[in-house]
Amino acid sequence: MARVAIVTGGTRGIGEAISLALHDMGITVVANYGGDDAKAAAFTERTGIPAYKWDVGDHQATLDGCARVEAEVGPVDIVVNNAGITRDGTLLRMSYEAWDAVIRTNLGGCFNMAKATFPGMKSRGFGRIVNIGSINGQAGQYGQVNYAAAKSGIHGFTKALAQEGARFNITVNAIAPGYIDTDMVAAVPADVLEKIVAKIPAGRLGQAQEIARGVAFLVSDDAGFVTGSTLSINGGQHMY
Ligand code: CAA
Repeated sequence: MARVAIVTGGTRGIGEAISLALHDMGITVVANYGGDDAKAAAFTERTGIPAYKWDVGDHQATLDGCARVEAEVGPVDIVVNNAGITRDGTLLRMSYEAWDAVIRTNLGGCFNMAKATFPGMKSRGFGRIVNIGSINGQAGQYGQVNYAAAKSGIHGFTKALAQEGARFNITVNAIAPGYIDTDMVAAVPADVLEKIVAKIPAGRLGQAQEIARGVAFLVSDDAGFVTGSTLSINGGQHMY
């Protein structure tokens, strides 16, 4: 039987590319999304991949959402924690709400999804969790204390959970994307982005598919001995 995967934030940007890449591997994919119903409906129409709405930063909503997927689609073997938001601003200007929303969604979402799915993976003796971190969690970024802290937290979360999952044949890995050509990066002021791209040795932004191919490898049966690792895909911008 085909494995079942949930990709959080899976209807747009990097998440959409991941959903499609896993679907192309013959995996039964469910794309979670948090906000834009119209974009999610268009995604399902285009791809045939069902989209389920819940806020991954909400613990109970995530438990309920995953239970609904398990009842309607099947036991979840693979989780890709991709959902993430930015609320950029220097510390002096950053509100508590901007801090809290990013930590809650980006980092809290990983915990909530793992709480919902790890026990089932353990009982079935197979699991793959891939967490989307960031170059800015590895290196920091001016104007992103919230996002850098959440993404850095994801890298620590990955290494800790990998140690707990290994004996149950559950692998837990992270990908650290650099600057990828998505709506999120397009929201960076043009003059700031120009300076960032100038520092990327590859001389360009990455493509969402270039992240998705990394995820496809990490969730495959071939990657069974890879756990606790971070795959940086950033055009050489930061070598960690
Ligand atoms: N290092 C040092 N100083 C910097 C700096 C940097 N990297 N960037 C800006 N500054 C300085 C500026 O030179 C300026 O100094 P002066 O006042 O002396 O001129 C001062 O900081 C204020 O800069 P801004 O005019 O840019 O300030 P702002 O308040 O208008 O905006 C900001 C601040 C919102 C942080 C804006 O700079 C910004 O959006 N930066 C980009 C942040 C970023 O890279 N976000 C990534 C989003 S994509 C993503 O996160 C995906 C991923 O995983 C990679």
